[in-house]
Amino acid sequence: MRIAIVGSGYVGLVTGTCFSDIGHEVICIDNDPAKIEALEQGEVPIYEPGLKEMIAKNVTAGRLAFSMDIKAGVKFAEVIFIAVNTPRMPSGEANLKYVEAVSREIAQHMNGYKVIVEKSTVPVNTSRKIFKTVSKYIKHGIEFDVVSNPEFLREGSALLDVSIPDRIVVGAGSDRARKIMAELYKEFKDKILFTDVNSAELIKHAANSFLAMKISYINAVAQVCELSGADVEEVARGIGLDSRIGTKFLRAGVGFGGSCFPKDVDAFERISRNLGYDFNLLREVQAINKLQRAQFIKKIKDQLWVVQDKKIAILGLAFKPDTDDIREAPAADIIKALGEEGGDIYAWDPQAVSKMRQLYPDVTYFEKDVYAPLQDADVCIIVTEWEDVCNLDLARVRELMKYPLIIDGRNAFTPAKMARAGFEYISIGRAPVKGK
Ligand code: NAD
Ligand code: UGA
Repeated sequence: MRIAIVGSGYVGLVTGTCFSDIGHEVICIDNDPAKIEALEQGEVPIYEPGLKEMIAKNVTAGRLAFSMDIKAGVKFAEVIFIAVNTPRMPSGEANLKYVEAVSREIAQHMNGYKVIVEKSTVPVNTSRKIFKTVSKYIKHGIEFDVVSNPEFLREGSALLDVSIPDRIVVGAGSDRARKIMAELYKEFKDKILFTDVNSAELIKHAANSFLAMKISYINAVAQVCELSGADVEEVARGIGLDSRIGTKFLRAGVGFGGSCFPKDVDAFERISRNLGYDFNLLREVQAINKLQRAQFIKKIKDQLWVVQDKKIAILGLAFKPDTDDIREAPAADIIKALGEEGGDIYAWDPQAVSKMRQLYPDVTYFEKDVYAPLQDADVCIIVTEWEDVCNLDLARVRELMKYPLIIDGRNAFTPAKMARAGFEYISIGRAPVKGK
């Protein structure tokens, strides 16, 4: 089938590439000239494992192309995906101005029946607004459908998530659109869940909020573990083995970040309130997340006593491993807080340095050698559990550091291992390991 994807960011680029990989003809469109130029030259503007290779393969096969020309894309395609960003407004509501703008543009160029697919994460009832907008701007007599097909991929494992999905949710209001979507996803026909459009939209916000709630829950439990002398890792295992609860998304840490959980929980809370329901639980999920991050920063400050002029090594800048994305990354808050008190910050990340440098140019950055920031450091702070961090040679780290203190926001090591290696070790929801 012929597909146009409008918005070629983390979601649009991955989705479009994966569609081309299963044989569809795809044009990925974006209004950012730098992005499209880079893609046309074979560069990939984001880091996602395997993406560069998959793009190259499908461009060579003639199934994948990039363009700024939305008019040509709309005319070419049978199915048009809207995959633009839906950032948070100061009120917490989702900002739908890019979705609205793209809907108008699509309408103006429609030359026959098309399915317009909402891929961006949007509040319930948005498809109705897209339908109304397109109806206003479209030429008389041209038919179309608006379908909701939310995306559940995670950054860092996006290709795998799209290629082997748990489920594909399609909210469609007509048989004609359902048939086209079934054809588009025929490779995954056992995984498709057809719903009405509103339910599909709500599934996305409800899923992300539930996952965020699970993380805040275990982080709250971690606080009680620290106060009571229990071990959150043991507790998480003990509750997760109940198949009704499940072991996933019970990793206590420095709090969730990224471009989606924080904004989607807020957006779901706001749309619920606007509809007349006070979803207080979601405000609490956010409050626990904020507190978790603040507590972590407090632990660092308490340990250092005076931050000024201390050499602070930060391992990991991306909001999670295997991505270059630093949107709402815990590392950004930590750098800000310690930088404001005069800390001398040395940070390592294999993919996210150039993005973090734009926010905090005064930090000394390393991309290659994970040991480089540790030389003469007063403290090592683990913020992202990259493989290189989890595989650190602790004897070497101990030798490099001025004082062997590790504060771990991801529980990347066991306290027993740290005790054996001679570190003072502070982690999340577990008893601290005292040093010498
Ligand atoms: P992104 O910022 O990486 O990409 C969005 C792209 O849309 C940008 O490249 C931007 O230039 C482009 N764009 C904006 N307005 C445009 C216009 N008028 N015409 C053409 N292009 C335009 O965002 P993202 O992370 O890919 O997220 C996109 C949507 O998908 C959001 O709603 C997000 O909540 C949702 N989502 C994201 C993820 C994720 O892991 N990042 C996962 C699931 C769902
Ligand atoms: C999340 C969802 O997992 C995807 O299903 C969804 O499509 C996506 O949001 C979205 O809508 O954008 P993503 O943000 O890429 O994906 O990454 P996650 O793996 O969910 O991690 C999010 C944050 O939670 C990270 O900061 C991670 O470190 C943190 N986390 C995750 C924990 O602190 N503990 C956990 O147990 C799991």
